[in-house]
Amino acid sequence: MTLEVVPSRTRNTGIFLLDNQQLTLGIESSCDETAAAIVRADGLVLSDIKATQIDIFKNLGGVVPEMAARAHTEKILPVIDEALKAAAVDWAQIDQIHVTEGPGLIGSLLVGHSAAQALAMAYNKPLHWVNHLRAHCLACWLWEAGETKPEIVFPSIGLLVSGGHTQLLWMKDYEHWEIVGETIDDAAGEAFDKVGKMLGLPYPGGPEVSKAAEKGNPQAFKFPRAQLEKGSLDFSFSGLKTAVLREIKKVEIEQLGDLEKKQFVSDVAASFEEAVIEVLLSKTRWAVLKYQPLSILLAGGVAANKALRGRMKDEFSSKFYLPQLKFCTDNAAMVGVH
Ligand code: KG4
Ligand code: ZN
Repeated sequence: MTLEVVPSRTRNTGIFLLDNQQLTLGIESSCDETAAAIVRADGLVLSDIKATQIDIFKNLGGVVPEMAARAHTEKILPVIDEALKAAAVDWAQIDQIHVTEGPGLIGSLLVGHSAAQALAMAYNKPLHWVNHLRAHCLACWLWEAGETKPEIVFPSIGLLVSGGHTQLLWMKDYEHWEIVGETIDDAAGEAFDKVGKMLGLPYPGGPEVSKAAEKGNPQAFKFPRAQLEKGSLDFSFSGLKTAVLREIKKVEIEQLGDLEKKQFVSDVAASFEEAVIEVLLSKTRWAVLKYQPLSILLAGGVAANKALRGRMKDEFSSKFYLPQLKFCTDNAAMVGVH
């Protein structure tokens, strides 16, 4: 399989140089968060600023690319200024700029690219392009003042679950990553978002479904768990999504009373979430058995899911690493990691 997550450029591996005090300005604008952060070369986050567009798209059912690009244009420079201010540093102290290269919405990405290129030229700083998926995984190395720096030992198996991707990665070292399993249809986050929409919940569906699931019965509905061929590390969530839709169509949701409706939504959400978690867990377990890694990582927006975090922690205990909640969904600190 391709090594899509590995960028071609030469990169610093500052995270392993304990005395490395270099500072990076990270810029992220791949979707609907305009973000900037200052990160030290050992992964310490000095500031992490985000202007979210969630309120614009909450009731539109998803991100409208042109609107997102326009909002990025308005916010990008104020967010960068705020990141410098919050870290109490000035441009002279910044050693380099990292910007999300992609994948993402092209109009949104271009705003970050243009700002980063202009600032790199104006302040004479080196500019590095960072793959967004790799950045999600690198969020596992971030830490803040008062915390212990994570000491992750390679090789690792990484489960990357975002809105557009679901991948199992075999990470031999900091640079050499291989995709050993991925979704053949929907990503896990995409499935969460679509199920949220089917249940009439606001965008993005992931956190809403997860919240509704807390009050539901995960055994209420028997949804399918697609394992594909024996031993396959690939995923498929489209059958599950269709099964959820079929169950919802059996009921006239709008005809239900308030309490009944809430319980139905919670039960569907909990049963769906349970099916997704079981598949993600079982595939990761297989990958761990096959590759015998020294650490297991979880990353991407769906890593913010409380139930998934808890179950992975229970299963892989001391070998398990994941980003702090706020560094799971899109942010710039993960882009600033060396
Ligand atoms: O990584 P991310 O922020 O953006 C992409 O790069 O795609 O992931 C966003 C995805 C969305 O699909 C969102 O619904 C999902 O992560 N997500 C969650 C939760 N929080 C965000 N899914 C399940 N449970 C959550 N708590
Ligand atoms: Zn993302």
